[in-house]
Amino acid sequence: MSEQQQGGAGTATPTRTDAVIEAKDLVAGYLPGVNILNGCSLVAYPGEMIGIIGPNGAGKSTLLKAMFGLVRIHSGSVMLGGRDITNLRTNKLVEMGVGFVPQTNNVFPSLSIEENLRMGLYLRPKKVQERLAAMWDLFPVLHDRRNQSAGALSGGERQSLAMARALMMEPSVLLLDEPSAGLSPVRQDETFLRARRINKTGVSVVMVEQNARRCLQICDRGYVLDQGRDAYTGGGRELANDPKVIELYLGTLAKDVDESREH
Ligand SMILES: Nc1ncnc2c1ncn2[C@@H]1O[C@H](COP(=O)(O)OP(=O)(O)O)[C@@H](O)[C@H]1O
Ligand SMILES: [Mg+2]
Repeated sequence: MSEQQQGGAGTATPTRTDAVIEAKDLVAGYLPGVNILNGCSLVAYPGEMIGIIGPNGAGKSTLLKAMFGLVRIHSGSVMLGGRDITNLRTNKLVEMGVGFVPQTNNVFPSLSIEENLRMGLYLRPKKVQERLAAMWDLFPVLHDRRNQSAGALSGGERQSLAMARALMMEPSVLLLDEPSAGLSPVRQDETFLRARRINKTGVSVVMVEQNARRCLQICDRGYVLDQGRDAYTGGGRELANDPKVIELYLGTLAKDVDESREH
């Protein structure tokens, strides 16, 4: 995707028809009669990086899982590039170009880095060499350590590997659940920049984050989820500076405005 498209992302209007992925009015949950998502909508346009923030238990992970076929959608729809993918099975979604990196257990620790990546492309073995080369290019650290077991990686490196594994299938959209969780501030920032770099290769990124302020600052657009609904949406920086959003969702983080003071 071109830089140009990226630049235009913040001005997206609901009337656009070129969504890469669009969830509309999702109602979904784990148990019969208990809905976690209560009419939740989200759209990502070509070239966009989208941040999803909100309190614990708001349904952020559930939204990603619903889009990836892991939580049953009771009503509403998910469209991928104009095709209805509501409630399709996960392996079908992977084939169609949806990548998902769960928050934990996202690599096979006993396999080597290269084996992990090969597993990511089991559906299309002929493309392995080409995709491996692309991943070594994007993540040189992984190339240097490609024969080591994934279990030996640090938290940040493991997140890199998990992202690379999802990217092996050349997804059009990458769903990331809290990629910076449990990392030091410096590593968190590296993770955000890595997600942005992936995004610039043409992959739309939809990222759930606890590090709400930093996430909104780096994303084109953001969504605040509250009680299973998209409570607020807007440009990333716009949301990060919105007094209502600050008061309700960024309050405890509002102090550390100066991001440059990283040790
Ligand atoms: N596997 C599950 N089975 C039943 N309830 C779940 C499951 N996973 C999450 N929930 C419930 O769904 C709600 C939303 O969880 P989640 O989507 O993980 O929130 P978030 O990611 O925003 O913190 C919470 O009340 C949580 O307890
Ligand atoms: Mg979660």
